[in-house]
Amino acid sequence: MKVLLINGSPNANGCTFTGLSIIKEQLEKNSVDSEIFQVGKKPVSGCTACRVCKQPDKAGRCVIDNDSVNIVAEALKKADGIILGSAVHFASASGAATSFFDRLFYCTERETKRLKFGACIVSCRRGGNSSAFDQLNKYFTISQMPVVSSCYWNGIHGYTPEDVYADEEGVRIMRTLANNMAYLIKCKHRSNVALPEEEPLAMTNFIR
Ligand SMILES: Cc1cc2nc3c(=O)[nH]c(=O)nc-3n(C[C@H](O)[C@H](O)[C@H](O)COP(=O)(O)O)c2cc1C
Repeated sequence: MKVLLINGSPNANGCTFTGLSIIKEQLEKNSVDSEIFQVGKKPVSGCTACRVCKQPDKAGRCVIDNDSVNIVAEALKKADGIILGSAVHFASASGAATSFFDRLFYCTERETKRLKFGACIVSCRRGGNSSAFDQLNKYFTISQMPVVSSCYWNGIHGYTPEDVYADEEGVRIMRTLANNMAYLIKCKHRSNVALPEEEPLAMTNFIR
């Protein structure tokens, strides 16, 4: 059982990382493995809409191969869940996180994501967590991924990692999220219920 944790903040050891680290520790207490991936400080290209990833021989990979999108895409094939993390930049996920997640969710095949568990966490100093949280949850709800919730919307507050630990309620939200994610993954592992059959793809582009 494994959950991927993605730090979409340019700060490798900042507040978002601290939130993800609290989750990691709690997943470990629940005997669920996890790994933190860094989006990093280097510029991350947005999706260029080339659609090469939709060609059968290229499926599941992004042609832009100078960052860790393809590494996470490959790891997601074997994972049971994913938690996207981002610092809040102007009441949204950071630009780099948005570029990274757009490409990750566009290039990966449906079966890589379908009925695997997803959640996001957001970190702000003061405001904008809710809109960034809503933005990130859209990646799951277009991908047939059940969204795992916690005891509040998954936000932490801070300017420094120390602030995050002082946000007692935020820390509890992170731990509860990890507990709920672990519980649901275990339920799925122990059940013998087959995944529902997929209907053939129908794309209606509203061209009249
Ligand atoms: C470009 C930029 C925009 C930001 N916008 C907001 C914002 O809209 N609301 C807020 O409360 N904090 C904002 N912040 C502060 C960070 O979101 C906040 O300190 C966050 O916890 C930092 O997380 P990190 O250490 O993982 O990068 C902004 C920071 C930067 C660099």
